Amino acid sequence: MMKPIIAIDGPAAAGKGTLARRLATTLGLPYLDTGLLYRAVARRVLDAGGDPADAATAEGAARSLRPVDLDRSDLRGPQADAAAASVASIPGVRTALLAFQRDFATSEGAVLDGRDIGTVIFPDAQAKLFVTASLTERARRRWLELQAKGTDADLGTVEEDMRLRDAKDAARAAAPLRAADDAYLLDTSEMDAEAAFQAAMAFVCSRIRIVSMRDL
Ligand code: DC
Repeated sequence: MMKPIIAIDGPAAAGKGTLARRLATTLGLPYLDTGLLYRAVARRVLDAGGDPADAATAEGAARSLRPVDLDRSDLRGPQADAAAASVASIPGVRTALLAFQRDFATSEGAVLDGRDIGTVIFPDAQAKLFVTASLTERARRRWLELQAKGTDADLGTVEEDMRLRDAKDAARAAAPLRAADDAYLLDTSEMDAEAAFQAAMAFVCSRIRIVSMRDL
């Protein structure tokens, strides 16, 4: 019996993480937030006083990445965001992280979210979703998250940072952000998390034979 692999790609703050985590719990599958891999590589480079744009340094950090690095509490924030986008544009870093992602899903299948899961990491995934929302709406969501954490950010600055990071993710030569040809496009601009989950679940169920379902 083939283990199901569910690929969830899309730009920042489109609702991928919330959706992917809930799909994984519901389907009884392991979940991997692949953005954390790039963030953890960036953090290792920064900790060593290195430059995240330097290919040799970033590749070295990617090759020596350990699972425990993903548990750090300092992987988010403006500095980590920018450094992660830099290391993610280096082809050698992406190659070094490929095996980690494939190994993760080998034994039980998995739900993975990222930018290139359906296009590069698992082109044969049983179900691929490309989750998106308008820039204005994604910036508003990120700003609300920051407010909830007690971080006083300017909405215009959050939107501009997001626009630049999206442009960098989409324009890079190595595995740019794009929807796989066979991905289901889910625009969550006008949806709450529940509506997005129901739409995603209906699609996923049409693609995989459900073998284990929790919390349904
Ligand atoms: O999803 P995120 O914001 O945590 O991702 C951090 C950075 O890593 C972001 O610049 C996009 C990049 N990334 C990537 O290139 N490929 C992935 N599969 C996941 C994230």
